[in-house]
Amino acid sequence: MKIFAHRGYSRNYPENTMVAFKAAEQVGADGIELDVHLTKDHQIVVIHDETINRTSNGSGKIKDMTVKELKSFTYDYRFTGFNTSISTLDEVFEWLKENQLMCNVELKNNLYEYKGLEEKVIELIKDYSFDRRIVLSSFNHHSLLKCKEINNSIECAALYSDKLVHPERYIESIKVEGIHPPIKYVTDELIVDCKKMNVPIRPYTVNNMETIERLAQLGCTAVFTDVPEEARKKMKN
Ligand code: G3P
Repeated sequence: MKIFAHRGYSRNYPENTMVAFKAAEQVGADGIELDVHLTKDHQIVVIHDETINRTSNGSGKIKDMTVKELKSFTYDYRFTGFNTSISTLDEVFEWLKENQLMCNVELKNNLYEYKGLEEKVIELIKDYSFDRRIVLSSFNHHSLLKCKEINNSIECAALYSDKLVHPERYIESIKVEGIHPPIKYVTDELIVDCKKMNVPIRPYTVNNMETIERLAQLGCTAVFTDVPEEARKKMKN
């Protein structure tokens, strides 16, 4: 079972920043999860919320600011001394060239449409030849359908937060390969069914080590965790 660092090593480092991604690699994560939005000047930036209010010393919506404006703030809101900035997806991909990490790019287009986001992200993945290392996901399943229409070779996974009936069958209707369910709705049967049907399943956000052990034993594909270091140690036992 693979370990994906949720927003990087976000328990101990500023989420969705290069500091958190590099820390995840250092503690042995197999992959990172990150979130993307489009700026006013149509650049793809890595951040979770639609605004920078929670995670920086600034304020405002991503869609109303340029990359230059966004980079004038610091993003170590919960910590001190990291002096870290917002990154473009291009900058993260440039770093990913130096390692073998997998990367889940979550398109944060469920509140704002961010017209052209799918095309831009897929173009960048092609530029870096990362087709096999990236999994695209979104709570906006119309957007995933669009991604598959643009390029069918990049894996997509339906991200959801509700208690769905047979999610492993639902995904056929939107033509995506995998599911990213909330851990509270992940039963043993769901993992077993996904395994049987060859459907990648990566629950979020799993910070309990007993749960990680159970999921691994059942043959779960991967988990998203805020504590990749602890998870890596657990998986070595
Ligand atoms: O992509 C898995 C997980 O990150 C989804 O929840 O709120 O962190 O985007 P959220």
